[in-house]
Amino acid sequence: QASPSPPPPSSSMSPVVLTQDELKKIAAYKAVEYVESNMVIGLGTGSTAKHAVDRIAELLNQGKLRNIVGIPTSKKTYDQAVSLGIPLSDLNSHPAVDLSIDGADEVDPFLNLVKGRGGSLLREKMVESSSKKFVVIVDESKMVEHLGGSGLAMPVEVVPYGDLAVAKSLQALFEDSGCVAKRRTLDLDGKVPFITDNGNHIVELFFKKDIGDLNTASDKILRIPGVVEHGMFLGLATTVIVAGELGVRVEN
Ligand code: 5RP
Repeated sequence: QASPSPPPPSSSMSPVVLTQDELKKIAAYKAVEYVESNMVIGLGTGSTAKHAVDRIAELLNQGKLRNIVGIPTSKKTYDQAVSLGIPLSDLNSHPAVDLSIDGADEVDPFLNLVKGRGGSLLREKMVESSSKKFVVIVDESKMVEHLGGSGLAMPVEVVPYGDLAVAKSLQALFEDSGCVAKRRTLDLDGKVPFITDNGNHIVELFFKKDIGDLNTASDKILRIPGVVEHGMFLGLATTVIVAGELGVRVEN
């Protein structure tokens, strides 16, 4: 009788499972391939964008990129970029940005985004809407069929004055979608508000049902006095790089 076959060689053993952070890093490194010397670069905020900022600094230090000017989208990214020695400027000095790279919380099939769960949506939207190219970097978990459908928060930046009244108005706007609006807080009692880099508060919208046409929803939110900006980034992304277990794909 034939002896049992030997175990398969290690190369054909179970595939390596990458962590979510490793997938984020893969997407970020791929996006940095779009960066060229002499560009003004919008530097995003969050755990995915952080990898892109690290990589840009690495390439600058190696002399593979030269004469880059970064426009940070938050104080946190500003601090990171300063610590890495990336030359920085701002939108007033560089109102035309060549390329921005940033993460997202949700991406729909039309490359519309929800951003701002890190609280930086206003500066992100200002910089990214001023960019010729906006490359979004995500791991597969961020891909959704409909924005707001993940059950997670859709952030809206509001002025501090009357923020709870604004939250009520926002909730009433989307009553048909089962919306619940809550002020983002730093404590369990809900008393200490999260403060954005611009000194504002964040109201989070949670939907039970589809919110319908996104441009209509955007217009309705922006018409409420006290609202500064919302986290829907509609038609702004030019490219989305998605890293998943099966590899990286680029959607345009
Ligand atoms: C911050 C953002 C982030 O890009 C978004 O929250 C994704 O974050 P992460 O890369 O950590 O998953 O919009 O305001």
